[in-house]
This record gives sequence, structure tokens and C-alpha cells, in this order.
Amino acid sequence: MTVRVAVTQERHADETRVAVTPEAVKKLIAAGFEVAVEAGAGAAASYPDADYAAAGAEVANTLAATLKDAQVLFKVRAPSPEEIAALPSGAIVMAMLNPYQDKASLKALAEAGATAFAMELVPRITRAQVMDVLSSQANLAGYRAVIEGAQAYGRALPMMMTAAGTIAAAKVFVMGVGVAGLQAIATARRLGAVVTATDVRPATKEQVESLGAKFLAVEDEEFKDAQTAGGYAKQMSPEYQAKQAALVSEHIRKQDIVITTALIPGRPAPRLVSAEQVASMRTGSVLVDLAVEQGGNVEGARLGEVVQAGPAKIVGIANMPGRIAADASALYARNLTAFAGLLVKDGALQPDLEDEILKASLVTHGGQIVHPALKEG
Ligand code: NAI
Repeated sequence: MTVRVAVTQERHADETRVAVTPEAVKKLIAAGFEVAVEAGAGAAASYPDADYAAAGAEVANTLAATLKDAQVLFKVRAPSPEEIAALPSGAIVMAMLNPYQDKASLKALAEAGATAFAMELVPRITRAQVMDVLSSQANLAGYRAVIEGAQAYGRALPMMMTAAGTIAAAKVFVMGVGVAGLQAIATARRLGAVVTATDVRPATKEQVESLGAKFLAVEDEEFKDAQTAGGYAKQMSPEYQAKQAALVSEHIRKQDIVITTALIPGRPAPRLVSAEQVASMRTGSVLVDLAVEQGGNVEGARLGEVVQAGPAKIVGIANMPGRIAADASALYARNLTAFAGLLVKDGALQPDLEDEILKASLVTHGGQIVHPALKEG
């Protein structure tokens, strides 16, 4: 028996990524799956139908034909109502379901009898690293944020000595040094910028310095204790935030490009840059707010827009990984392919829902929302 995987087009506006690449199709087929891809699914990520067919996928012309007899659905975003309606009962869905914000999709998936996994909830344990979609996408978002910042900035990043004179290196400040921030630091350094960075987790200081950037933070007692056992940031006290804001104010007005990536799981993004701080910057400076989808780190940032705020531009691009869709899709497809390996045993679909990884990411099953943190209380 072979397990049939379906991959449909993303129906969310502006989504350029696709949940499977031709390379991933080959891997899935080698692992005993059969794969149906909806025609045009990879077009926006530069993967043409012919490449899927050459890799061994069945390219189906309609949504209904793609989902017919599907046992597993691979998606980037939550399936649309139309997709859920066409999904065979009991099918498994793997996607970035945005489970804390998008309750409507969870309900619809539960009502349709789907067994859905939210890829964002895969635990960050060693065995699951290859399935970590937050890291794979954040890494590329961090890279791309620097490219977008450089694009919006009307000057060069590296120092250049020319016959006509010297151009100074740009100063880049990265706020929030998780996966995205670390890649932003590395990318800005490669482009020749002078880079500084800040975070509330003390562990990041050494990481920042090892990338050749300078660390800047109020290093008091609260800071020494600001990391949870899970490795995430804690919500900081108003007193700490005030001290941090004073330090940052002095620094920010001398920066050319500021990249913000700060998030606290399950909460709105912390506000790190005030309108006043933006107003203190030099004319032509740029802020790129990677947290804009979670409410934004920068006051005045607007989702999906580039705002001119006094002297500075605030770049609020939504879906930053979608700006590098071919690579983002390739890494995401590898994350899903590895995860799919947990669902089969002896060539048949037999997910062990007690497996630590599946248990942590399972959100709907048997007609219900089953994840303890997401059940209606
Ligand atoms: P995230 O996306 O949740 O947050 C981004 C960064 O913002 C974090 O570094 C956080 O400390 C920082 N932040 C929050 N509030 C802030 C504030 N007020 N000011 C400045 N910075 C603030 O973080 P991400 O990228 O998911 O990484 C979180 C942790 O998970 C890190 O320790 C990372 O090394 C770890 N991790 C572990 C993995 C594994 O073991 N498999 C894989 C990936 C990440």
C-alpha cells in the first residue's frame, strides 16, 4: 500500500511559497509515498509543473483531482474552506496553521474530521531540528530583511575607497537575536556593515560577538535571568524596558539601518522603537520590522507597507520568507518530508500520536480541537 500525499496551490493572497519541491517529491517517492501536485502550485516559487512531473509526481489539473483519495495534505498556510471541503474525511494535514491566531481554520479542520498538525508547534528538541519550520523560515527572513533594508537605503553598506573619495560603512543595528537576528547579523557583516545587536537573553551576547558584531544591552540582575528554560525571552519589567529604551535611544540615532526581530511566544511583539526614536534618526535611514505580523517592534510600522516616518523609512513587509520563495519552499518541504516520515510504518499510515513530536504539534483529531493550549475553555 502506498500513502498518497497531495500538495495544492496556496490560496492565501501573497503566498508565493509551495509546500513541496521536485527534490522533495523524489525523496517522498523513494520513501514509498505517492504524490499529487496541483498544476501551477510551484509557479510563484520558480518550480514549474514539468519539474514535478519529471520528479515522479502526478500533476493534477483541478483541486478536486489533487485531493481525491489524498491521505496527507502538505500546505504552507492553513487550507482554505474550499480545500477543507474537498479533503477526504480523516486526512492528515501538515501546515503552518498559525494556531494561536487562526482559530477559525482549526475549527473548520476539526469539523471536517482532519488530523491536523501545526508545524509551528513542533518541539525544539534535537530529533526534530530537521522539522523546525520556525528556524528554517526565520533564517531566510533574517537574510532577506538585510537585503530589503539595503535596497531601501540610498547608500552603500561596505566602506569603499575610491579615487573620488571614501564612502563610510553603514551602521546596522539588529534588535532581537534569535534565529532571524543571527542571520541578519551574519548577512550585514558579509555586506561590510558595522553591526551592533541587542537582546534580552544573556546567552545571545556570546553569539553576537562570535559573528563579529558588538553587543549592546543593560546587563543588570533582571537581564541575567531573562531566559526561560525553553530558551525563549521573558516579558521584561517596565523598569527594565525603560532602562533599555534609554540606552537604545542614544544608540539608534546614530544608526543607518535597524532590523527588528523580537518576539515573545504567544504574545504580541514587544515595542522596541518609539516614534520619537525613529524621528531622531538621520535622514535616509531605514528600519525593517520583521515582527510586523505580530503587531510590530517599531511604532508606526504598517503591515505590507513601506512608511516614510520623518527622516526614516519603516519597512513592514509581510511574509518575508515569501520574498525568497524558492529557497524558503525548499527548506520548508524538507521540514515536511522529515515530519511525514513519522506518520508511516511499514508502508502504511500509522501515526503514533503518543510520539513526543506528533503529540506536541497535533491540533485537531477525531472531530475535535485536541491541543491542550488551544481547546476552547
Ligand atoms: P523568537 O522568534 O521567539 O524571538 C526573537 C528574539 O527576540 C529572541 O532572541 C528573543 O530573546 C528576542 N526578544 C524578545 N523580547 C525582546 C526585547 N524586549 N528586546 C530585545 N530582544 C527581545 O526567537 P527564536 O528565533 O525562535 O529563538 C528562540 C530560542 O530558541 C533561541 O534560544 C534559539 O537559540 C532557540 N532555538 C533552538 C533550537 C533548537 O534547539 N532546535 C532551534 C531554533 C532556535
